[in-house]
Amino acid sequence: MESVDFHTARALLEWQIELGADECISDTPVDRYALPDRLTKPKKPDAKPHLTKGPVKMEARDPLAEAQKIANGADTLEALRVAMEAFDLCDLKRGARNMVFSGGIAGAPVMIVGETPDRDEDRSGKPFVGAPGHLLDRMFGAIDMGRENAEAPIYITNTLPWRPPHNRDPKPEEIAMMKPFLLRHIELADPKVVVIMGNWACQALMSKRGITRLRGEWTTVAGKPALPMCHPAYLLRNPAAKREAWADLLSLKAAIDK
Ligand code: URA
Repeated sequence: MESVDFHTARALLEWQIELGADECISDTPVDRYALPDRLTKPKKPDAKPHLTKGPVKMEARDPLAEAQKIANGADTLEALRVAMEAFDLCDLKRGARNMVFSGGIAGAPVMIVGETPDRDEDRSGKPFVGAPGHLLDRMFGAIDMGRENAEAPIYITNTLPWRPPHNRDPKPEEIAMMKPFLLRHIELADPKVVVIMGNWACQALMSKRGITRLRGEWTTVAGKPALPMCHPAYLLRNPAAKREAWADLLSLKAAIDK
């Protein structure tokens, strides 16, 4: 194939990204022009991804136990962020561009736990920056709170810090593996109340699904009063549910002002 210079190659790649081809579907590139005898056999994926080779025997790693130990060892939010960046047992990390740790102001009285980063969040490394994020800002703005409002701030994180490929649903084992980090995050951020935003956050923090049934009913997570609410992405698809979301925001505001 004719070779192209760096700038042309980059422009071609950017063009593909513009068209929406922004994810790899395979770990290794496939040269579709290669003649059959030049084709190299793809490497077989390791059937046991979490085995560590020790001097004598192969030792199985327990992702949950490791996550728990690492999360408990973090004494500050920054230490937790660094520990999560280094945690390599969750496969989602490999497909993500950036880890999304948090947004808003740490120490805020309200901590929102969203679901998973989407394309915009994966690119920017910040939570809720796409269309649902804009609605989230408008919702909290309506009760005079905001992620950049120093007087009445909010703090935001997600159930999972890495975007699942093609925005697929998170797997139960991924949620379970990252839960110790989420609980430690809540402990360290120490908000007055937690907002459990959407079904996957409910799954992680309440071991339940069914946000449209659970919303509006105060509960306790990590020792904090917590309010399940519908996710802004759901509200964008179901505008009629905004009336209930408004009731939940008023309930939240009353709890903060108490
Ligand atoms: N949805 C979420 O739950 N979190 C984000 O960061 C973005 C979209």
